[in-house]
Amino acid sequence: MSSFTSLLFSCAAIAAFLILLRRWRYRRLRLPPGSLGLPFIGETLQLISAYKSDNPEPFMDRRLNRYGLVFTTHVFGEPTVFSAEPEMNRFVLANEGKLFECSYPGSISNLLGKHSLLLMKGNLHKKMHSLTMSFANSWIIKDHLLVDVDRLIRLNLDSWSDRVLLMEEAKKITFELTVKQLMSFDPDEWTENLRKEYVLVIEGFFTLPFPLFSPTYRRAIKARTKVAEALTLVVRERRKGSESDGNRKKDMLGALLASGEQFSDEEIVDFMLALLVAGYETTSTIMTLAVKFLTETPLALAQLKEEHDQIRSKSKTGAPLEWSDYKSMIFTQCVVNETLRMANIIGGIFRRATTDININGYTIPKGWKVFASFRAVHLNPNHFKDARSFNPWRWQNNSEATIPVNVYTPFGGGPRLCPGYELARVVLSVFLHRFITIFSWVPAEEDRLVFFPTTRTQKRYPIIVKRREESSPCI
Ligand code: HEM
Repeated sequence: MSSFTSLLFSCAAIAAFLILLRRWRYRRLRLPPGSLGLPFIGETLQLISAYKSDNPEPFMDRRLNRYGLVFTTHVFGEPTVFSAEPEMNRFVLANEGKLFECSYPGSISNLLGKHSLLLMKGNLHKKMHSLTMSFANSWIIKDHLLVDVDRLIRLNLDSWSDRVLLMEEAKKITFELTVKQLMSFDPDEWTENLRKEYVLVIEGFFTLPFPLFSPTYRRAIKARTKVAEALTLVVRERRKGSESDGNRKKDMLGALLASGEQFSDEEIVDFMLALLVAGYETTSTIMTLAVKFLTETPLALAQLKEEHDQIRSKSKTGAPLEWSDYKSMIFTQCVVNETLRMANIIGGIFRRATTDININGYTIPKGWKVFASFRAVHLNPNHFKDARSFNPWRWQNNSEATIPVNVYTPFGGGPRLCPGYELARVVLSVFLHRFITIFSWVPAEEDRLVFFPTTRTQKRYPIIVKRREESSPCI
């Protein structure tokens, strides 16, 4: 036997031994049912090809039917337990920082920066999470954010005519709102240039983090440096300004500088960059999909129109929206809930087990990943009748408050509950209000933006808008 053949033989023998050892160990541990697929690749290819198909949830559906609500798989190089079980999802969310910790792919961690809230852990995370929460709560929204949200949405909508790429426009609005909330800048050339670089950073999230092989990733790293430089200048200017004139702006940057902590420029920049990321795709996708669902559900659209026309009829022409107007958008909240239930871009969250965990008679081994799927729960007919139809009326007699907290979780839960949850609801409601009272519209062409936000949400959802006669421009 040549030395090459014997080397090959030894490698094969070692691989077979490792697979057997792995099987033996996992059998002893009582893993949830499922398959780890091929060595190294696992079931990653099945996952990727499933999400390129038209069927919205084939990977999940097939395995849920076969194995039940909790199953084992192996994706993106790691053994992973998928859960579509509300109680287990709650357990995972609630034990963040104790039995589990959040875990993002390398591409995302590198681009976000190590001081971003999404990557922070322990006490620092607790403190910064509550600071962020306190900056997007209903009091702050009522006090001053609502005015900005309304004004910026109207400014954008006023420039729309004929054919509009709704997803693109929604992203622009969301970005401008976040920049305003973070550092009080109104949209101008500077913010638009920042957005262009920032879009390149986001593209890098969805590629392999190897600069040598991926031009998209290389571009993203470069853009990240540019965004960080621009934000650092803003932080420095603001430090100088607040020291010299003692004026504190009512924005997130102002809150960070006045928090009593000695944050470095880098820490503040990472923190702001992550906030820009967290609300960008999420809120804009929800805005687009709400319009798509309403377009396809004329009865819901008619009822919503009536609600918003009534609100408009009570206020002076061109007047800004008041908090009381927002609070009277009852059916709108049903539409918001239903859109978040059906089509949340965040289908679930990944966590890593920090120790062997026994749950429901199974073991999740230390180091394994868990994917708590919110979407699989939201689309389970045992929790929501006719779960795959858009039915905002289901929320009329069945308010969010009466649904078990672990069943409806579009914003996650536990220590990492989305700090932007209230703001996102307000943004969507105000957007729907302005959009519906200013325009009528039809989809521009057959668009394959599918039911659920899989990879195809990249589609821009073109619509043709027509100004309703009674609408007035922004003042
Ligand atoms: C429809 C819109 C939104 C949805 C569906 C959404 C959903 C979520 C979910 C599910 C999480 C939990 C992630 C986890 O547990 O690992 C999260 C976290 C987060 N969200 Fe949102 N979000 C939305 C809008 C926003 C907005 C507008 C902001 C900005 C203020 C924001 C800021 C954040 C941040 C900073 C985190 C990380 C929290 C942490 O790790 O402690 N989100 N979001």
